[in-house]
Amino acid sequence: MSIRISTGIPGLNDLIDGGFPEGRVILVVGGPGTGKTIMCSQFLYRGIYENHENGIFVSLDESKDHFYAEMQQFGWDFRKAEEERKFVFIDATRTSRVSKLKEKIFKEESKSLRGKQLPIDKLMETLQTKISSIDAKRVVVDTLAALVYRFPDSIEKRIAVLDLIESMADLGVTSLVTTELGHLGLERNALEEEFLVHGVIMMQTLFSGATTTRAIQVEKMREAKVNPSLVPYSIGQNGIEIFPNMPLFSEK
Ligand SMILES: Nc1ncnc2c1ncn2[C@@H]1O[C@H](COP(=O)(O)OP(=O)(O)O)[C@@H](O)[C@H]1O
Ligand SMILES: [Mg+2]
Repeated sequence: MSIRISTGIPGLNDLIDGGFPEGRVILVVGGPGTGKTIMCSQFLYRGIYENHENGIFVSLDESKDHFYAEMQQFGWDFRKAEEERKFVFIDATRTSRVSKLKEKIFKEESKSLRGKQLPIDKLMETLQTKISSIDAKRVVVDTLAALVYRFPDSIEKRIAVLDLIESMADLGVTSLVTTELGHLGLERNALEEEFLVHGVIMMQTLFSGATTTRAIQVEKMREAKVNPSLVPYSIGQNGIEIFPNMPLFSEK
């Protein structure tokens, strides 16, 4: 059995045999507002302060200031963690939007996939350097959906996404990569990322009459005995909490 990495999310370890398999890539899939960013940040923050495992957050869609302010509401002081050299925030928003704009201006570069791919290769280099510098054990990439801007062509987009996931798998750290359902314009069961990743966790909001419920499901976790049930979770003062033994819709 592989070494388990505690998820830092109450209830989640129980669903996946004790934690994420060490050194593997887990895909976190869900629509906007389902709590992907919060869950990934919680994984990093608890990792730092409960497991002494340093972390790196690679943001493709949020600035550092915005991220720090947002996470502060859960009592997670990432600025302090950064000062203690336990955390690094990599702002890769330029990889997704601004460099796309630049390419429009400098047209030659945008002609080849190579030109577009370059910033991602650079990003992986930066990531590798930062991992070594703080001896990081956990990495988050949030979110692949932001690459939509960079690669409007669906084939190029898929290649970029697959490349990125493959490079992540080579890093030797335990990583969470978020994505939105359908951003590749594919059917759910045809998401190719899934063949490359070791685990897939789905987050969604369910509607039943006037009631909405947040529900999470572990769709795949290699090297683990998983509980594949769809179970409720909440987002509150302390972040995300999963309730593996509660019914999805409580009876009135
Ligand atoms: N302090 C909080 N208490 C409860 N819910 C919150 C709080 N802050 C944000 N949320 C909820 O979290 C969700 C956004 O989480 P986020 O991780 O940014 O989603 P995603 O990254 O999947 O788009 C929203 O639905 C919002 O209502
Ligand atoms: Mg988000």
